[in-house]
Amino acid sequence: MFAWFAHVGRVRPIMPHVVLILPTATYRAAEFVDAAAQLGAQITVASEDRPPLADGSGAPHVLIDCDSPESSADLIVAHADHHPIDAIVAADDQGVEIAAIAAGKLGLPHNPPFGVAATRNKAMLRRALAGAEVPQPAFGVVNTPEDAEAAVADLGAPAVLKPLGLSASQGVIRVDRPADAPAAADRIRRILITEGHSPGEPILVERFVPGIEVAVEGLLLDGKLEVLAVFDKPDPLDGPYFEETILIAPSRLHPEMIDEVVRVTEKATAALELREGPIHAELRVDGSRVVLIEVAARSVGGLCGRSLRFGLLGTSLETLILRRALGMPVAGLRREGVASGAMMLPIPRAGVFRSVRGREEALSVPGVTDLEISMHPGDIVRTLPEGNRYLGFLFAKGETPQDVEDSLRLAHGKLEFVID
Ligand SMILES: Nc1ncnc2c1ncn2[C@@H]1O[C@H](COP(=O)(O)OP(=O)(O)O)[C@@H](O)[C@H]1O
Ligand SMILES: [Mg+2]
Repeated sequence: MFAWFAHVGRVRPIMPHVVLILPTATYRAAEFVDAAAQLGAQITVASEDRPPLADGSGAPHVLIDCDSPESSADLIVAHADHHPIDAIVAADDQGVEIAAIAAGKLGLPHNPPFGVAATRNKAMLRRALAGAEVPQPAFGVVNTPEDAEAAVADLGAPAVLKPLGLSASQGVIRVDRPADAPAAADRIRRILITEGHSPGEPILVERFVPGIEVAVEGLLLDGKLEVLAVFDKPDPLDGPYFEETILIAPSRLHPEMIDEVVRVTEKATAALELREGPIHAELRVDGSRVVLIEVAARSVGGLCGRSLRFGLLGTSLETLILRRALGMPVAGLRREGVASGAMMLPIPRAGVFRSVRGREEALSVPGVTDLEISMHPGDIVRTLPEGNRYLGFLFAKGETPQDVEDSLRLAHGKLEFVID
């Protein structure tokens, strides 16, 4: 008996250890660091810079380069020699390949690096999905403005031109005639140069799919998709540029259409052989046809995840992702019963951001729960298709999706952005 107590006295508290891959540009470092603290998990931060104070000061750190997934993964694997790792979680797209490769080498549950790479390259994605007959827009991959024109003529206008590796609708342009394609392709090339990409990168040309757009937030466990939320995007996304604004859950689509949206999402994740961790898919619903626009091996971008809360305690999306990654139970963690939504605050014009007026008025709109401005005074802001950021994020809850939409629009109307 005594021996047993003596033994218990020496048992170390079991603290799981998670490596958080936090790209410099992520909006979500604090969310993930907080989630780990709440779960009593030790963290190591893997990032391209030393982590700033709020993002895990004092935590062990691995310096990585998101453009070199293999060698970055090796650095994380080497770190595991001294600090055994239970899970590796990437906050954003830039880290998902590193996480997949490193977790594979450490024998942790992981996605295949190829499938994850395909979620980061729009041409690879289209080809992989075409092989598995996942419904998606007709497409072509081109290298010159002349070929872009021929591709639009071939696919049929209207069409959408886009770069392969950018996000947040940056460089995504609709054209209504083949003759407009070369100018759009040139504009994309200039954007690629500004973003440090090679101007010779191919461009994806797709048939424009009309209809409404939804997003699926899900979590994969051993290849099975659990849907956390289906969001509507109630603002029309018809181009010529595609500024995302409002996301609201639950979706107001007919339940049968939601089932079809989920089926197409499952087909896409299966085609890429994704098995573990969060996914975020965007789909268009054109009448009864559901078409996959994109699927990513991460959760919803920006701060939009803050609009999701789960279970009785209001568990955050990041906590849910970490629980899953660490093999902790997540049963019963359904999205809360109310409707909720986020608005990515669009940039009204290009210039130098100075300030926001009307914060108090916006926050006092019934249903509005939070407002976060992510720009700093002096920041240069660009509109689409050149831009890739938002002024900030507005959050609301309500009894119905319509209530949430009304609150977000009313509150947005109270904000005035001073841009010189
Ligand atoms: N083929 C298409 N048909 C209709 N809309 C499209 C098409 N491709 C993209 N879009 C619109 O542009 C947005 C951004 O395109 P997407 O391929 O998702 O690139 P990103 O990685 O920048 O989000 C989509 O959410 C959608 O609204
Ligand atoms: Mg997208």
